[in-house]
Amino acid sequence: MPQNKFDWQRGFTLDFSALDGLSKGAESTKRRLSQMQDMYADGEAARALVEGGDPLVYEFYELGTPEHPGDLAFGTSICYPGKVGKEYFMTKGHFHTILDTGEVYYTLSGQGYMLTESPEGDVVAHQLEPGKAVYVPKRYAHRSVNTGDTPLITFFAFRGDAGHDYGTIETKGYRKLIVEGEDGRPKIIDNPKWKK
Ligand code: NI
Repeated sequence: MPQNKFDWQRGFTLDFSALDGLSKGAESTKRRLSQMQDMYADGEAARALVEGGDPLVYEFYELGTPEHPGDLAFGTSICYPGKVGKEYFMTKGHFHTILDTGEVYYTLSGQGYMLTESPEGDVVAHQLEPGKAVYVPKRYAHRSVNTGDTPLITFFAFRGDAGHDYGTIETKGYRKLIVEGEDGRPKIIDNPKWKK
């Protein structure tokens, strides 16, 4: 994690590429399928893909924002195109550790959905497409899903000290999944692996 590369006291500018999502000077965190294969409904398809080369599912660029309520964390997230069985490549998804904090996403390129759900079970799928911003309200878990053929690249910003709670999603799963339907279009279905 870079600590003093950016001037959080006096400000800074940073280049973001809408083409490949690279954020100059930032560090990328990479997630391969083996790091999240149990999240996909089709365990057999996931295992075969992992054994066949363990594809990179997504990566995101962070700037080492101070964990302070007055600072803003921002960066880019790139979810690559692909499917595990019928289920589209997606990010792990998370709640914020400080649940009462929202987040903004702006799509730079690609097509997909921001799948969100509250602890009480309200599920909302927001479309991600270039030129559109999505507001993820406080308390909602969020995960991006790439339903297109090109990398889905988003710019995000949230409160510096919000933190990431991946554990809840890792143990319980999401209530819903996005899969390719019979007609070749994305379809939202119940997650057979969801644990109450
Ligand atoms: Ni978030």
